[in-house]
Amino acid sequence: MAQQSLTITDNRTNQTYTLPVENGTIRAMDLRQIKTSPEDFGLMTYDPAFMNTASCRSSITFIDGDRGILRYRGYPIEVLAEHCTYLEVAYLLLFGDLPTEQELKNWVHEITHHTMLHESTRHFMQQFRYNAHPMAMLISTVAALSTVYPESKDIFNPDNRLLQIKRLIAKLPSITALAYRHSLGFPYVYPDNDLNYTENFMNMLWKMVEPKYVATPVLARALDILFILHADHEQNCSANTMRCVGSAHTDPYLTTAAAAGALAGPLHGGANEEVLKMLDEIGSKQNVPAYIKKIKEGHGKLMGFGHRVYKNYDPRAKIIKWTAEQVFEVTGRNPKLDIALELERIALEDDYFVKRKLYPNVDFYSGIIYQAMGFKPEMFTALFAIPRAAGWLAQWQEMLNDTEQKIARPRQVWTGREVRPFVPITKRSLDMART
Ligand code: SDX
Repeated sequence: MAQQSLTITDNRTNQTYTLPVENGTIRAMDLRQIKTSPEDFGLMTYDPAFMNTASCRSSITFIDGDRGILRYRGYPIEVLAEHCTYLEVAYLLLFGDLPTEQELKNWVHEITHHTMLHESTRHFMQQFRYNAHPMAMLISTVAALSTVYPESKDIFNPDNRLLQIKRLIAKLPSITALAYRHSLGFPYVYPDNDLNYTENFMNMLWKMVEPKYVATPVLARALDILFILHADHEQNCSANTMRCVGSAHTDPYLTTAAAAGALAGPLHGGANEEVLKMLDEIGSKQNVPAYIKKIKEGHGKLMGFGHRVYKNYDPRAKIIKWTAEQVFEVTGRNPKLDIALELERIALEDDYFVKRKLYPNVDFYSGIIYQAMGFKPEMFTALFAIPRAAGWLAQWQEMLNDTEQKIARPRQVWTGREVRPFVPITKRSLDMART
C-alpha cells in the first residue's frame, strides 16, 4: 500500500522532509521543522479565510460540496426533514444518536419547561428602541443570559453544561418572539406548555386576544422542517466563531452570542433577509435579465446564491422549495417566488454562474416562505439562529471534549515596518515619512 506521507524538498537548502498524511491532511506544525537555519522560525501555512484549512476533527455534520450531500451524524438531511422533528434532530446533533421514544419524551419535556424568560430579561428587552433589529436584540439578550445564569461558567461540569444547553434551545424562540412583539408594540405572550416547539413559537409570536392559540399544522410543520434544515452545517463562519470564542473557555451564553453575531452578517445568515431586498429591487420577472447583467458586470452578488463548500445545488434549497409549495397552499402564493424561480432558471443556464459553480443555497428560498408565513424580513436571520443554536452547541461541546484543542490563536504574515525611532510629539510634523 502506498505510503501515507509527503516528501518535500526545500529548494532553498536541498533538505528533504517526509511528512505523514492523515485524513487527507498534513499537520501544519510538521512544517515548522522546515528551516533555512537553526534560528529560522520554520514554515507556516498562509490561508486567508481558511479556504483550505481543517481546524478540528468532527463527527457531527458531513458535507460533500461536489455531490450536494449533507448528513447530520450520518443521517441524510432529506430523511431527517421527512421523518423527524427539530427537537429530535437537536438531540441527534448534541448526543450523537436519534433518541428512543422515551428519551425524546424526556427531552421535549425538559425543553418545554425552560421556555420561560426571567422577568428581568423581559424588562431588559423592553428597553430597546421599537425599531431595534431583532438580531441585535437576540444577540444582546443571549449575552445578558450570562448574568441570569452565572453558574454557566462551570463549563466542564457536564450536568451544568447540559442545563445551559437546554435553556438556550428553549429560550431562543421566546427571545425572538419577544423581539417581534416589541417591534409591534404588542404585549409579550408567555409560553404555552401544551404546544410543541414550533406551535409554541407561533403562539408567542402571533397570539392576540383568543384564550388559546391554535397553530395551523401545515405552517407549524413547515417551520419544524426549516429548523431541521438550518440546525448545523459543519465549520461555517458562525460555528467557527463558536469554537474560537469557546476555546477561551467563555460561558455558553457569551459564546453563543458571538456565534449569532457572525451569523448576522449578510454573507452568512443575513443573506435570507438580503434575498428579499434583492427580489423587491428586481420587482418583476421581466427585470431579471437586466439584474443578472448587473451582477455579471461585478455590481454586487446574487444573494442566496453560491457557497464556500457546495459547488452543486444546496440539498437544503431543494427541500425548502418543496416546503414552499406546502406553505403557499395555506397562505397563498408569494409572488416573489416567480421572480426567484426566473432568477434561478436564468442563472443556472448562464456561463458566469455555471463556471463559478454558483447554485441557490439555503437562503435563496427560505425568506420567501418566511414572508408568506407573516414574518418581516428583519426576523429572518433570527429564524436561522434559533435552530442553529443546536449545531453551535454541539460543535462547542465537541471542541471542549477534544483533547487536541486549546485556545485558538492563529499566526500572521508580518507586512509592517521594521523598528523605527520614537519621535516626541513636539518634534513630529506632517511631512515626516508616514508610508
Ligand atoms: C450560508 O458556510 C456555510 O455552511 C454557510 C451556510 C450555513 O448553513 O451555515 O450554508 C449558510 O451562509 C449560505 C451562504 C449565504 N450567503 C449568500 O447567499 C451571499 C451571496 N453568496 C456569496 O457572498 C458567496 O457565494 C459566499 C460568501 C456564500 C461564498 O463565498 P466564497 O466561497 O468566498 O466564494 P468567493 O466569494 O471567492 O466567490 C468565488 C467567485 C468570485 O468571482 P471571481 O472573483 O472568481 O470572478 O464567485 C463569485 C465571486 O465574485 N461569486 C458570486 C457569488 N458568490 C460568489 N458572484 C455573484 N453572486 C454570488 N452570490
